[in-house]
Amino acid sequence: MVTINVCIGSACHLKGAYEVINNLQHIIEERELSEKVIVKAAFCLGECTKAVSVRVDEDKVVSVGEETVKEFFEQHVVGRL
Ligand code: FES
Repeated sequence: MVTINVCIGSACHLKGAYEVINNLQHIIEERELSEKVIVKAAFCLGECTKAVSVRVDEDKVVSVGEETVKEFFEQHVVGRL
């Protein structure tokens, strides 16, 4: 199981953390990956300048925007499945 932790701390919230979560969930449903990928809300990941901060499993924090969710998914999640 791959865990995607999306920060919902204040900086990330302001930059659209909920849209990022929604988009991720949409991609996961569309590709029928709900058995393999889980999206979780996380507290501040300590990298507020990267908002929206996202961490896949224990990997380093990646900066994701509403428009770059798909790209992020291809680059950081697909390879782990
Ligand atoms: S608020 Fe998201 S990393 Fe700090």
